[in-house]
Amino acid sequence: MERLLSLVFRRTALEDDVVGGYHIPAGSDVLMVPYIIHRHESFWDNPEAFDPDRFLPERVAERHRCAYVPFGGGPRLCIGMHFAVMEALTIVSMVSQRYRLDRVPGPAVIPEASFTLRPGGGVRMKATPRSRQTRKADVEDVEAPSYTGGCPRRLGIADRALG
Ligand code: HEM
Repeated sequence: MERLLSLVFRRTALEDDVVGGYHIPAGSDVLMVPYIIHRHESFWDNPEAFDPDRFLPERVAERHRCAYVPFGGGPRLCIGMHFAVMEALTIVSMVSQRYRLDRVPGPAVIPEASFTLRPGGGVRMKATPRSRQTRKADVEDVEAPSYTGGCPRRLGIADRALG
């Protein structure tokens, strides 16, 4: 799930606080934009590169717990998180075992802001059926991925400042 996103989540400050050096008066709305957090140079090396290895458990362990928040964080965490991850892995594994997918050359994909961020106009792909032999060779060395990120439900003041 390469940095799938909700566009923005909002929290209302219950009391005065300081986040990243900014005073947040009680009652203020604070908007968090995962697109920015997920590409912020403070948390990610080479943030625009496609690098699935950045989600290896040892690299996740090196990062701030809230650097990756596709499902939000704190008490309002997405209740469908585990279902969504299981559904995505099931679809990707079933399709990729049966078909090799190659991008059809075309214009660059432009992200489209909707309820979630999605590729505007879709992504054209060529699906080539895999033979039994190729299927076995291709999947033999693949390790099942897991969702190892997660911003905890309860955060202390220091954590909330993403310090
Ligand atoms: C890839 C798929 C999904 C993504 C990226 C996603 C993302 C999110 C995010 C970021 C939030 C928190 C919003 C906030 O903090 O204000 C949220 C909340 C929520 N999500 Fe998801 N979600 C996904 C799939 C699902 C599914 C499949 C379900 C239900 C089966 C679901 C049900 C909910 C509900 C009920 C909430 C509100 C929880 C609350 O306010 O206490 N989501 N989701």
